[in-house]
Amino acid sequence: MAPIDPHSFTDSTHPLTTHIALTLYFHFSSSTIHATALLTLQNPCTGPLSLDSRSLVIHKILDPETLTPLPFTLSSSEHPINGRHLTVSLDNHSSILILYSTSPSSSALQWLSPPQTFKKIHPFVYTQCQSVHARSVFPCQDTPAARVCYSAKLNVPRQLSAVMSARHCGHRDPVGSDLDGVLTKEATEFGFDLKSLWCEEGRVVEEFVMEQPIPPYLFAFAVGELGFREVGPRTRVYSEAVDGVLDAAAREFAGTEEMMRQAEGLFGEYDWERFDLLVLPPSFPYGGMENPRMVFLTPTVIKGDASGAQVVAHELAHSWTGNLITNKNNEHFWLNEGFTTYAERRIVEVVQGEDIAALNVGIGWRGLNEEMERFKDNMEFTKLKNNQEGVDPDDIYSQVPYEKGFQFLWRIERQIGRPAFDEFLKKYIATFKFKSIDTETFLDFLKANIPGIEKEIDLQQWTEGTGIPPDAQEPVSNLYTKIMSLANDFKLGRMPREDEVCDWKGQEWELYLDNLSKAVEASQVIALDARYRLSESKDYEVKVAFLQLAISSRCRDYYGEVEKTLKEVGRMKYLRPLYSGLVQGAGKDEEKILAKRVFAEARECYHPIAQGVVEAILAKHV
Ligand code: BES
Ligand code: ZN
Repeated sequence: MAPIDPHSFTDSTHPLTTHIALTLYFHFSSSTIHATALLTLQNPCTGPLSLDSRSLVIHKILDPETLTPLPFTLSSSEHPINGRHLTVSLDNHSSILILYSTSPSSSALQWLSPPQTFKKIHPFVYTQCQSVHARSVFPCQDTPAARVCYSAKLNVPRQLSAVMSARHCGHRDPVGSDLDGVLTKEATEFGFDLKSLWCEEGRVVEEFVMEQPIPPYLFAFAVGELGFREVGPRTRVYSEAVDGVLDAAAREFAGTEEMMRQAEGLFGEYDWERFDLLVLPPSFPYGGMENPRMVFLTPTVIKGDASGAQVVAHELAHSWTGNLITNKNNEHFWLNEGFTTYAERRIVEVVQGEDIAALNVGIGWRGLNEEMERFKDNMEFTKLKNNQEGVDPDDIYSQVPYEKGFQFLWRIERQIGRPAFDEFLKKYIATFKFKSIDTETFLDFLKANIPGIEKEIDLQQWTEGTGIPPDAQEPVSNLYTKIMSLANDFKLGRMPREDEVCDWKGQEWELYLDNLSKAVEASQVIALDARYRLSESKDYEVKVAFLQLAISSRCRDYYGEVEKTLKEVGRMKYLRPLYSGLVQGAGKDEEKILAKRVFAEARECYHPIAQGVVEAILAKHV
């Protein structure tokens, strides 16, 4: 066994999968997918082939040519992070056909019942596969080192539609031959006849292909009653078919094409043809997910002032950094997120101006410093490249790969100047596109293309050292400095005057609130809110930053608002600080009881990944 990824059973001595053909039958009433997966290997394989799986029922594995069964074993216990090791015995096979079903607890999938949707008529289901959850949708070598192309046929109720992060190439009636040649005899392995279910009245098949090799974590679909609006030549925005939501989203993202043009100028041609946006229900656990051709977004980015564009800029930037060049495994995650944060800010600088970009750098700087406190007993996760053996990526998700990664690249930019750095970036992308690489590969390329850089910058300290290197820096901008000084004044009892904040939008307030001392008096917090109504902000970044302050100053007047917020959104960026704020620290019995009760009541509405993350926070402190 020669592992290539601490989060996968993939064995480097086995051939890698190059293509996966999926047929997926969506059974909403049982929250399961009955499926077949045809895996094609790089070359013929004899002996064991290791695959990843989680919460999957494997009914049968067949030789696709002869339909003879192939022996397989599934590890008896489920590893809490990596899932189950599926081993198939092959004899000169270059493809295998797996008949399997997902289970309602599959960690990538959130199944929403009609009452949990906006329109409350039809159910909805969507995926979130990063980092290690694709294996709960289909058995695969679930490591970003194994890039695959795929095709998929989704069989869904006729009233619903399906979207994927892939090219849509068919909407038609189902036929029995969709099931990869599986005969009726095999189709009954599911415990019922999948073939007759597949072809039932009232069903429709949506077909997709992804012809560019992607890491499995970029596999994504959503099924529900969906609508869309055109917002640009390469962009539609999709969401549940509610006119108000679609119109607001179309307004918020009207500038997408302009952003794409700017990004192409900076990083080279856009390689994925389309850049559609899907606005998910409020339980979506992230701000955005860079699924290729179709980014997934939280509805909280629709704020009515085009500021949601920052998240879109970030996910768009991943089209180059992350999706074209991918981290080889999660230990090099900074290669995805650090580069993307840098790229995002370059786009924001062009479309929203230097001041806003500087505010974002400042918000990130504050976040990075806070992570040093969070990881003070576990400094490994303050390193850019870190050891994740036995570690759940969802538990250690932090600002470090984003903000320390950003700082590292910004440091290089300062050293060699922007024009040289821009040229370097373009060359880096062109050289490694459609490859999965590690930190060493990046450093070798850097040293080869910028001779002598290692004498100017301590590359080892940046990539392998703990903490924040001394040559990292805060942004330089008058607006940033002004806000920081106002935040400092608050400690001395001075609230900002109306004329000082009259043109502040979300990011100004966020930076201000993040930098207020956590030890302020409850009366000061109440006075601030009485004047500026921050607890009622429609911008969740502002509202949650304020509620964090309210919790840390034990201002109980706001616990009702905290509870409401925890029940209406499932974005982990908000759940983490609010639940942690409630339960961390001594003498917080009342807050702990509140956190436990709210989680018990809200749990069902969260995505399984968010459920796990909140459970871990409560288990540590309650
Ligand atoms: N790829 C991430 C989201 C992610 C990371 C999902 C790790 C699963 C595991 C995405 O690109 C991201 O960084 N989203 C941010 C957006 C922000 C930085 C603008 C988010 O969700 O907050
Ligand atoms: Zn990202």
